Amino acid sequence: MHNSAIIAFLALSASVTAAPYSPFPLPDGFPEPSPTQLAEIETLAQGTLPNGALPSSLKATGVTTLQLIALNEIFEVAFFTSLLSNVTNNVTGYDAAAIAPLDYNYVIDTLTAVVNQEQLHAAGVNGILANAGETQITPCEYEFPVATFVDAIALAQTFTDVVLGTLPEAQAAFAADAGDESGLVPLFGSVIAQEGEQNGFYRYVQKKTASASPFLTGGSPSFAFTALQMFIVPGSCPQDIATLTAGGLSTFGPLEVITTPEAQNMTLEFAAPGDVGPDTNSIVYISGQNLPVTVPISTVTSIAGYSHFTASFPFDSGFAHGLTIAALVNSTGQTFPSNDAVAAATLFGPGLIEVG
Ligand SMILES: *[C@@H]1O[C@H](CO)[C@@H](O)[C@H](O)[C@H]1NC(C)=O
Ligand SMILES: *[C@@H]1O[C@H](CO)[C@@H](O)[C@H](O)[C@H]1NC(C)=O
Ligand SMILES: *[C@@H]1O[C@H](CO)[C@@H](O)[C@H](O)[C@H]1NC(C)=O
Ligand SMILES: *[C@@H]1O[C@H](CO)[C@@H](O)[C@H](O)[C@H]1NC(C)=O
Repeated sequence: MHNSAIIAFLALSASVTAAPYSPFPLPDGFPEPSPTQLAEIETLAQGTLPNGALPSSLKATGVTTLQLIALNEIFEVAFFTSLLSNVTNNVTGYDAAAIAPLDYNYVIDTLTAVVNQEQLHAAGVNGILANAGETQITPCEYEFPVATFVDAIALAQTFTDVVLGTLPEAQAAFAADAGDESGLVPLFGSVIAQEGEQNGFYRYVQKKTASASPFLTGGSPSFAFTALQMFIVPGSCPQDIATLTAGGLSTFGPLEVITTPEAQNMTLEFAAPGDVGPDTNSIVYISGQNLPVTVPISTVTSIAGYSHFTASFPFDSGFAHGLTIAALVNSTGQTFPSNDAVAAATLFGPGLIEVG
């Protein structure tokens, strides 16, 4: 059994004061590189943007889905730009070579490929939006609640896990929209695999098995939208957030996972900034490709405006290693048929639970 680990975004946010970060435009011209700059990005990314025809029109759900993906990809460009800079410049805490058997140049080569690949993901998605005459997404200012290489890699694994749960939902949306968007399904299949390759590296760095579980945890767009906003300086890109909200995405209240979870049945303590009670609320877990699991909550106490409460974490009843999403919903004893149904009933979430 491997060591268990957690990234509770909010716990980290509370413990580390991050400075707003915006590296844009990058020296390579991103987000608006010239053709010469784009060719250089493609060289460093070890491949080119797709050169096939793009959809000329998009349905409303497809537009919102692509805008959410673009918001995430641009965040990832910012994150990996910062991480690459920290490692390259030997910022205190970022000595990647201290983690056997990693090597300074190998980590720099890997992060250089990743940051350029993420630039092409972002440029590609915005290119699809532009080709259909839809609103593109722009950079925001960001805050990263990490100050060491190990924590940054654990965070990268967690947000990549969230992306890996969201992109299949995007594929389903493109397929259901039909028409011009069906060509996007295999395109994003290749992006899912690409992000999975990245995540194998992030897990390896943490001495976790490279692949987490047979079927990775799914998601729902509003969970990804809410999680992403934990890294966006409030008010730094109001139009993008408003565009996505108008497109039907919700921003939930935060759900903090207080207990460090382990890969076994246990009780978890949560906290949420609002009134919570066992007669009105329950916790729902999304893990692997299984149906959501609903559990009651108990022992509610109020601490500094937060409701603290406990719920069982029945890991041994078929949960996946890697990411599990927790959500506090507005009902008790309810069985949810899908992740989207959980999101529709969510008040606070996603609580992001990682077990080795
Ligand atoms: C890079 O280092 C700075 C200074 O320690 C830190 O604030 C920032 O979060 C780091 N970035 C990443 C992605 O780890
Ligand atoms: C950072 O440290 C590595 C050795 O781990 C060294 O090779 C490299 O030159 C250093 N880089 C800078 C910018 O100081
Ligand atoms: C884990 O919890 C579930 C749900 O309560 C229960 O069905 C199962 O028997 C437990 N497994 C172990 C190994 O304790
Ligand atoms: C509670 O969930 C239901 C869906 O099950 C939804 O229709 C309703 O708007 C939700 N209420 C609140 C207060 O969020």
